Parts: sequence; C-alpha cells; structure tokens
Amino acid sequence: MKIINVVGARPNFMKIAPIIRAIKKTKIFNPVLLHTGQHYDQKMSDSFFKDLGIPKPDISLGVGSGTHAEQTAKIMLGFEKILRKEKPNLVLVVGDVNSTLACSIVSAKLNIPVAHVEAGLRSFDRSMPEEINRIVTDSLSDYLFITCEDANQNLLREGVSRDKIFFVGNTMIDTLYKLKGRIDKNTYWQTVKEPFALLTLHRPSNVDNKENFLKILKGLEKIQEAIKIIFPIHPRTKKNIKRMGLNKMIKKMPNLHLLEPLSYFNFMSLIKHAQVVFTDSGGIQEETTVLGVPCLTLRENTERPVTITQGTNTLVGIDTEKIISTALTVIKNGKKREKIPELWDGKTAERIVQVFQEKLV
Ligand code: UD1
Repeated sequence: MKIINVVGARPNFMKIAPIIRAIKKTKIFNPVLLHTGQHYDQKMSDSFFKDLGIPKPDISLGVGSGTHAEQTAKIMLGFEKILRKEKPNLVLVVGDVNSTLACSIVSAKLNIPVAHVEAGLRSFDRSMPEEINRIVTDSLSDYLFITCEDANQNLLREGVSRDKIFFVGNTMIDTLYKLKGRIDKNTYWQTVKEPFALLTLHRPSNVDNKENFLKILKGLEKIQEAIKIIFPIHPRTKKNIKRMGLNKMIKKMPNLHLLEPLSYFNFMSLIKHAQVVFTDSGGIQEETTVLGVPCLTLRENTERPVTITQGTNTLVGIDTEKIISTALTVIKNGKKREKIPELWDGKTAERIVQVFQEKLV
C-alpha cells in the first residue's frame, strides 16, 4: 500500500523523519516522500535531510515562495498531477504550513484518505495563517493524530467524530529523543563562551508589522544589557529588518548576535545550553519543554497550552515592559518545574503506523 508523505517547510522535517522510518519497518506500506519546495534554501531544507537521516524526496514540486494564494495554488496544481499518477492509498501531512493545507484539500477532492499528524491544535486566532491551515486540514482528515488532550477537546467541539482521533504523542519529540546522544555531544554552544539567551522570531504578526517588531526589539535592547542574546535569523525576518530599516537599531545592540539559520544539531545544542529561549515558534515551545529549558513565548496566544500547564513555557506576549520584566526574572530565578507531557516518549511514529496497520490493512 502506498502512502505519500508530504513535507514543505522546516518544522515538517523533524516531524516526518520518524514516520518514514516507522513506515519502512513494516514492509506492508511503501512510503513515498514528497517535498513541495515551500522551503528551498540549503539552510532551511537540505541540511535537515542530511542531519535527520531523511531519504532524498521521491518527488519534488519545487514551488518556492509566493503569496499565500500563489504558494497554496502552485502546490495544489502540482500535487493533483502527482496523485492522479501515483494513486496512493493514503496521504499523510504534518503540522500547519501551507503545504499541509494544499495537499489535504487536493487529496480530499480526489477521495484519497488524509492522515494529519499534529491535529487539533488551536490558537483561536484566525489572523494567524497556520490557524486557518489547521482548521481546514482537520476538517478534511480521516485520521487525526493528536499530541495532547486539549487537541482532542478542540476536535470534538468542532464535530470531528471520536473514532477518527488518535492520541499518539509528538513525532517532533521522537526526533529529539532519537538524536539526543548526538545533541548532547554537540559542542556548538561552546562557541558562545558565556551564559546566553536564544532568540527566534518569524511570525508574520511579529515581524511583518513594524510596530509589533519594534515593541519586541525595544524589549531585547534592555535584555541584552543583562545577557548575550543569540539570534539565528529566519529569511522572512532578515528581509523585513532590511525593508523596515531596522538594521541600525539592531547594530546598536552589542550583545545581540545575529546568525544565519542553523543546522538541527547546532540549534538544539544552543537550546539545551541556553539560560532562556525567546521564541514565537510552535515547535520550540515543545522542544524546550522536553529539554527543561525556560521558554518565553513572544505571542499573545499559543496553540500548545500543554507546554505552559505542564512544561517550561510562559506566554509573555509582545508588550515591551512585560518582555523585559519576565525575562529578567527568569534569568535571575532559573527554570520552573516541568513535566514531560503524556506520550511524548519517542514512540509516537510507531503508534501512528500501528493505527495504519489496524485500519488500512
Ligand atoms: C512557514 C510557515 C510557518 C512555519 C515556518 C517555519 C506557512 C503559512 N507558514 O513560514 O507556519 O512556522 O514556515 O519556518 O506555511 N524564504 C527563503 N528561503 C526559504 C524559504 C523562505 O528565503 O527556503 C523567504 C522568502 O522570502 C519567503 C519568506 O521567507 O517569502 C517566507 O517563507 P514562507 O514559506 O512563505 O513562510 P515562512 O515565514 O517561512
């Protein structure tokens, strides 16, 4: 039986790696890997295939960047041709990016069952493109694999039938556990030479809007007086800094260090040894929870509340004064108590494949 597995953007790669491995082990299913090309830079894509041991994609659509409609439409057009030719038994999508949305719509229209890994997460903020992607993908999916109980509640509230929902855990954390030995051995963090905070920013609400971006930067201006901040920069953010003329302000912060996007291992090495992580990413809220590192989320909401109730995450928002006061308190007091959420145990991909064996064969 043929399963087409879709990846497109950076966080998808960590989620798909263990699934491909687990599918291959069965010998019943033939996994086909399709890369939409939503992310295409060596540092945003290729380096992850190598580091995470993901096989070369069997099919590449090479769609690249564009507006939401352009990017989604290009993926849909390319993917429809592939589905007509390949006639898979199932399409598996992960996460909440435009590739996830586009491929689930095309599959559903061709009556090919869709499995969504990381279903049911909700920020309840429809100005966030990913929230639209999550809602549409979940409404079209036949197998909804969830990472936590709140996702279950969200799906039931939206009328998803109970028998389509499978609580399996978190495949991004499968990858973290599988590679933990190599992360522990990685010495990249030692290049920093002093205690540091790690920062990532790429949400359109934070970096496409100058007013919001400035609120965050003003907070960082103060925080970098207390601790060195390492900032591997997303291409969207880099472009916006230039476009908005923020380079000067950033150059005036001697303790804010900008880096190119990092490899998986170098980045995880930095997370692991950071005093605190500032982020607007979803996956990083989960990875810091598992590694026990304090995470301050620079957003007004999160679709991953379990990282707050059980993990190391604190929702800070983007108010300058709140960012400063929370950061300085965490730097002084260290981490809060944390628990690793249920089933985030490194065996999620195996559970997913088990479901396929029970339901599809
Ligand atoms: C996408 C996802 C987001 C995810 C993020 C992870 C959507 C709607 N958004 O956001 O959920 O958290 O990936 O990184 O799917 N660019 C490059 N090189 C690349 C890719 C992008 O330079 O390899 C630049 C382009 O200028 C592009 C911009 O980054 O226009 C944004 O890329 P895009 O894929 O549209 O969205 P992301 O912000 O990366």
